[in-house]
Amino acid sequence: MAIPALSTRRRSFIRTPLFTRVAVRRAWGYPNLPGFRLRNKGSIVRRPSHRLRTQASLASGSWSPPIAVTSRERLTGIASVGIPSASHESIKNEENVGNNDEMKRSAFKFMTYMGIFVILPILRLFGSRFYEKNVVPKLIGFLCGTKPIQYQRKKVVPFATGDVVEIGIGPGSNLQYYDADKVHKVIGIDPSHELNAIAQKRADQVKLNIEFNVSSAENIALMDASADSVVCTFALCSIPNPQLALSEIYRILRPGGKFYFCEHGLSPDFLTRTLQNLTSGFYPSLAGGCHANRDVIHLITSSGLVIEESSTMYLPGSVKFLGYNYWGVASR
Ligand SMILES: C[S@@+](CC[C@H](N)C(=O)[O-])C[C@H]1O[C@@H](n2cnc3c(N)ncnc32)[C@H](O)[C@@H]1O
Repeated sequence: MAIPALSTRRRSFIRTPLFTRVAVRRAWGYPNLPGFRLRNKGSIVRRPSHRLRTQASLASGSWSPPIAVTSRERLTGIASVGIPSASHESIKNEENVGNNDEMKRSAFKFMTYMGIFVILPILRLFGSRFYEKNVVPKLIGFLCGTKPIQYQRKKVVPFATGDVVEIGIGPGSNLQYYDADKVHKVIGIDPSHELNAIAQKRADQVKLNIEFNVSSAENIALMDASADSVVCTFALCSIPNPQLALSEIYRILRPGGKFYFCEHGLSPDFLTRTLQNLTSGFYPSLAGGCHANRDVIHLITSSGLVIEESSTMYLPGSVKFLGYNYWGVASR
């Protein structure tokens, strides 16, 4: 009996590194990101479950940085994108967001769930225009201003150099973290007039040469190969067509230019991922277009950018379906 031939699509899928990566990921319990797996085939480690990690954090009395995912991290205990400045201890000190105060964290998580599933839908009933103008900017300002998120920014933003383009600059929360000595100019791209007005005020408080471009990252009005660095934090989730935005990022980066990213996205845990997929039908309309289930690394690599370093973790104190963070650097 003739064995039915595999379709061309299926055959090419099986041959792709992605298939290998997914298979390895399944077999080894999600030892994190593709760039890492490909470069460090021999050093894949099994990733402890979220429950085990949480228990370990609680037992030690403080939150610890992500479980090692790269060889550097295994050696130093620091999850960084070539960012050796913060010591393990300073991470603990700065980021000890209340493991000693579990009650506060639980209350915060409860309030977040109430906000998302009860309060925001009620406010949305007042009309989408009212909601987009008055609620969304405040919501973004609040969610993007929490301590763990601010800490995440410090892991990538200070590394941007030269002519920098920031995608989805929003209220300008990253401006304070640029290294003014290394940055020649920052061009902020964001289609929101409301958030731009907030960012303009913040721009007055920092010593940077900043230009705002109220437009979409899906169609960037900049020349090819004109940026040394592109920074994108917590914005890929909100851009309607992230593939298009990333192809624009690739286009505007100079060869060798760096893409610094810090995003929340698709969780490796089945239950969390299921919740992320279930909420994708309504959560974006409540949160300024934010999707909780984007596969950040796959999006970046499929644009042609090459991941140099990347790490992941659940942010402490955040609700799991919004709290799985990816950060790192890719290059053109
Ligand atoms: C969650 S906020 C993050 C803001 C900022 N990057 C930060 O880290 O605080 C998402 C941002 O993406 C912006 N955004 C949405 N669609 C966009 C697009 N097509 N191009 C560029 N930015 C976009 C939103 O206006 C918003 O400022």
